[in-house]
Amino acid sequence: MGLFKNHIEHISAITTAALAHAGYDGLFIYSGHPVNNFMDDMAPPHSINPHFKWWVPVPDVVSSVVHFVPGEKPTVYLNQPADFWHKVVDNSQGKWAEHFNVKVVGHYSELPDFKQAKNHAWIGSTELQPLAAEHTNPEKLINYLHFNRIQKTDYEIHCIGEANKLALKGHAAAEAAFREGMSEYEIHMAYLQACAHNEHQMPYGNIVALNENPSVLHYQYQSRERYAAVDLKSFLIDAGANYKGYAADITRTYAYNDGLFAEMIQSMDEKQQQLCQAAVVGQDYVALHRQAHVNISEVLREAGVFTCSAEAAVESGLSQTFFPHGLGHYLGLQVHDVSGHVIDANGTVKSPPKEYPFLRLTDTLRQNAVITIEPGLYFIPMLMQEIAGHNDVNWDKVDELIPYGGIRIEDNVVVKAEDSINLSR
Ligand code: GLY
Ligand code: MN
Ligand code: MN
Repeated sequence: MGLFKNHIEHISAITTAALAHAGYDGLFIYSGHPVNNFMDDMAPPHSINPHFKWWVPVPDVVSSVVHFVPGEKPTVYLNQPADFWHKVVDNSQGKWAEHFNVKVVGHYSELPDFKQAKNHAWIGSTELQPLAAEHTNPEKLINYLHFNRIQKTDYEIHCIGEANKLALKGHAAAEAAFREGMSEYEIHMAYLQACAHNEHQMPYGNIVALNENPSVLHYQYQSRERYAAVDLKSFLIDAGANYKGYAADITRTYAYNDGLFAEMIQSMDEKQQQLCQAAVVGQDYVALHRQAHVNISEVLREAGVFTCSAEAAVESGLSQTFFPHGLGHYLGLQVHDVSGHVIDANGTVKSPPKEYPFLRLTDTLRQNAVITIEPGLYFIPMLMQEIAGHNDVNWDKVDELIPYGGIRIEDNVVVKAEDSINLSR
């Protein structure tokens, strides 16, 4: 458990510096609580404040508060209502708890009066805001903490690695279900079962897309229909897992039969691995994104889709029609983890270049940042129409490939000075 001890020491030091930077003596972090749907008494699944999860590795916590004062052991007020409506899971025990003063709270009235604390800030969703608005999520404090969340502790890397192991079990089960001819919905269920996750535990909604459906980038529909083997062509699955609040975010693409599309996947996989290897400390991520455009254009040229050189396809902007999203993002407590466009602790923003507006990470890579590398190429009919008749495209090949939808391959990489670590292989 040295890992967690070191993690708490590290984030205590960061938070101490953050409070000094923003001029506060202490901090409350609120887990959040379920908020009912509009005109209803049902709430969507609760999503814990990531700042709270950074400290307390307990799932399903609601209405709980971390109190941190520099130099003191942090306190966590852990809500365990003694009622007959819910199962009370005693989550106050465990090795993690040794690093906190754990105060189990059975009712809201047992919480301290936060307003009495001198010169404190509050981090949390604003349905509950006991401190003045200016001390609730103050920008200077948040910017400092968010920037420092980029570089993960060994504990966090371990958690993201465990989430990857779980997700890979799901991916293996999903591929098997695809080969057996299951529907998108059945593949999705096979995935969940293999990871032993329920829907609410997933870090994001699974993308489970057969045949032409990978061309819908955030394809959310899970068809119940099975295809006959003769009609099955391709399968893209973008699905993660969750370990102690940390996410995995992995995408795989499969061809049902050998042939051109299978060869394109193979080529894409090799090039994706080269990009993963290039993701080392000091690498400019915007430059890596541009390199991905070159790589993808090479796949398309080899496949006979592009008749121009890869470099020409990138230069003219043609490749953007086939690869319209970014190469990746930070990963951690949030799937699209914070600070992707931020280059310092003051929150200075570096926007993506005009030609790549959807790029979620724009800085040079830092030691122990965890990132995704997820190049994709797609045959999106709406975008194909925009360049209809383009001279550098073999349109017969496009027609041949539209029924396969597209390819994305996504891994999670820990950035190191050399030999960055791929957690997804
Ligand atoms: N699964 C969301 C993403 O890849 O960014
Ligand atoms: Mn993904
Ligand atoms: Mn991703």
